[in-house]
Amino acid sequence: CSQFQYRNGVLFCEGVNIRDLADRYGTPLYVYSRQCINEAIDNYESAFDGVSHKFCYAVKANSNLAILRIFQKKGWGFDIVSMGELARVLQIGADPRKIVFSGVGKTEEEIRVALSAKVGVFNIESEAEFERLSSIAEEMRCRPRVYFRVNPDVDAHTHPYISTGLKTNKFGIDFFSAYGLIKRAAACSHVELAGIDCHIGSQLTSFSPYFDACDRLIDLLEKLRTAGIELKDIDFGGGVGVRYRDEQIEPLGELVRGLRERLAGRGFGHLRIVMEPGRSVVAASGILLGTVQYVKTTPVKHFLITDAGMNDLIRPALYAAWMPVLPVVERHCSEMLFDVVGPVCESSDWLGRDRALPAETGQLLAVTMAGAYGMSMASRYNSRRLPAEVLVDGKLAYLIRRRDSLEDLWANEIVPAEL
Ligand code: LLP
Repeated sequence: CSQFQYRNGVLFCEGVNIRDLADRYGTPLYVYSRQCINEAIDNYESAFDGVSHKFCYAVKANSNLAILRIFQKKGWGFDIVSMGELARVLQIGADPRKIVFSGVGKTEEEIRVALSAKVGVFNIESEAEFERLSSIAEEMRCRPRVYFRVNPDVDAHTHPYISTGLKTNKFGIDFFSAYGLIKRAAACSHVELAGIDCHIGSQLTSFSPYFDACDRLIDLLEKLRTAGIELKDIDFGGGVGVRYRDEQIEPLGELVRGLRERLAGRGFGHLRIVMEPGRSVVAASGILLGTVQYVKTTPVKHFLITDAGMNDLIRPALYAAWMPVLPVVERHCSEMLFDVVGPVCESSDWLGRDRALPAETGQLLAVTMAGAYGMSMASRYNSRRLPAEVLVDGKLAYLIRRRDSLEDLWANEIVPAEL
């Protein structure tokens, strides 16, 4: 994102010197650019200009309340997957009608709470969930709007852990059962059938899996039409992938054009397109800062050991994800290649491997592209305090989450008096 730039050899976020932020708030520290998020939002808006659409930000990508507020201000709705995410968006005063409740494992309690909050849409992922939702709705005397998430069995060509549209995945209703179930729902007076949905995976770098999924969904829409059932919305799930290293992502306009062509070509051009982008609207907006504690050289390896680790950012450890690592103050890079690792007691605790960086203790390193699935996946493993988060807006920097205190680490724990 162009909001992170070196000025006189020091990395800035918008108008703020990142070294100053580290001095003030300490490390590990997440820093986000508001402008960068706004640009990503505007990119979606302009690609869908003139096309009937609805955007629901996928809260799981970064669920800080201040970040959610940015999306709310832009008029976006929210895609949630738990009662906790629901509580977050209600906490910032989001319009419940603009919420889509996704997820394979909604509990009875979550369904009740979401119905009481008058959540806009439930994305149903199984027959059992349909039965649970419709019976609770009957009892609560309400009529929720529902989409059915169909598993189109297409290969998204992404990391297997974040691929969700194959028939071997737990997600969605299998393609062949979907017709019967949707027909049942159309005849059920306790739900209002509003749309069809799929989400085939995250970090998609090519649009062809979206198009394959779209073709499959249209096959189903045609069958439903023959049975006299018409839907209003078609939800394609998460947004497009991002460039971490050398991924080539086509312009969003191409996705819109392809989807529109397919829908209009088969008589479904009037459907509203729903998308639930997460990664592509926040990834580039965030960096994770760490301070190098030790430069460690062994006969076979060189390490930069930082105070940021896998508990702060788990993507490299979990998916072997490659994320850029930059020195905050530009210096001469040594000839050596370093593994950038954290202090956590396991070998999966790495942030980058074989990186050309300065060999300097005390230097600040920035893992960039860390705004999505960074802080939202952070843990307190090794009793490490969750990091602080700062949001930059022009020349201003706001603390949007204070660092855990030591007491926060055991805040919910109880030592029975009998022990
Ligand atoms: N909608 C649904 C139903 C989802 O499951 C997801 C992501 C999204 C939308 C947002 O997708 P996006 O626009 O971010 O691609 N932790 C992994 C990513 C997991 C994505 C899970 N679902 C990572 O760090 O790569």
